Amino acid sequence: MQRNAPVGVFDSGHGGISVLRELVRRMPCEDFLYFGDSANAPYGPRTTESVQQLTLAAAERLLDAGCKALVVACNTATAAAIDLLRQRYDQIPVVGIEPALKPAVLENDHPHVLVMATEMTLREEKFHRQMESYQDRAEIYRLPAPGIVESVEQGRVDGPELEAYLREILRPYETVPITAVVLGCTHFPFVRGAIERCMGHPVTIYDGGPGTARETRRRLERADLLTDRTTPGRVELTNSRPEAVALSKRLLEL
Ligand code: DGL
Repeated sequence: MQRNAPVGVFDSGHGGISVLRELVRRMPCEDFLYFGDSANAPYGPRTTESVQQLTLAAAERLLDAGCKALVVACNTATAAAIDLLRQRYDQIPVVGIEPALKPAVLENDHPHVLVMATEMTLREEKFHRQMESYQDRAEIYRLPAPGIVESVEQGRVDGPELEAYLREILRPYETVPITAVVLGCTHFPFVRGAIERCMGHPVTIYDGGPGTARETRRRLERADLLTDRTTPGRVELTNSRPEAVALSKRLLEL
């Protein structure tokens, strides 16, 4: 496998751009090929089988384009399909993302942790196993927030409509002393400021993007696949809805 081939990065839409910017920050000399499946977003309300099919198709597309590794920059697709992908593509690094519950509970000892993600991520076996490992250390609350995905897909990362939605879904937690919020969907880091404001009190935010970028680097290194170039790499953005590429580009520059 060619060490100077691009790293493929995939999400249901624009969310994975929040992971892509961490990847570029940590590996500026790598080439990246991003594919957002905005034509089929959101993935959260779909069936597991449907997300598996879409994820396998996206992976095939990136690997056909010559990618040397695959980053599933989508918690939902990871929860539904990471095992299938690893079985099918056992010769290359396949990295997924999951809600950063571990650092919230173990490293920082927050007694009340709110996990915001898609319906599918929160209902899949993978997340249930994660919760079981930590629930004796903290009270963990699960909050599906599909409205954030819709908002980001439309390019709205702020504003009164988004804030009204956030206040509405956060209302049941007003009396809970939450000190940590886990962003378990890659669309959510774009609205981090609005979430912080709408919580109404200071919270620590946990985003799985930086950890996923570190893990990708480790996996490439272990497979001897880190680029040997020393000049800035190329980032190519693609989308199943070609007119959506302009928004991905804007989000990458935020
Ligand atoms: N960005 C995705 C995630 O990390 C999925 C959003 C969606 O398509 O519902 O879960």
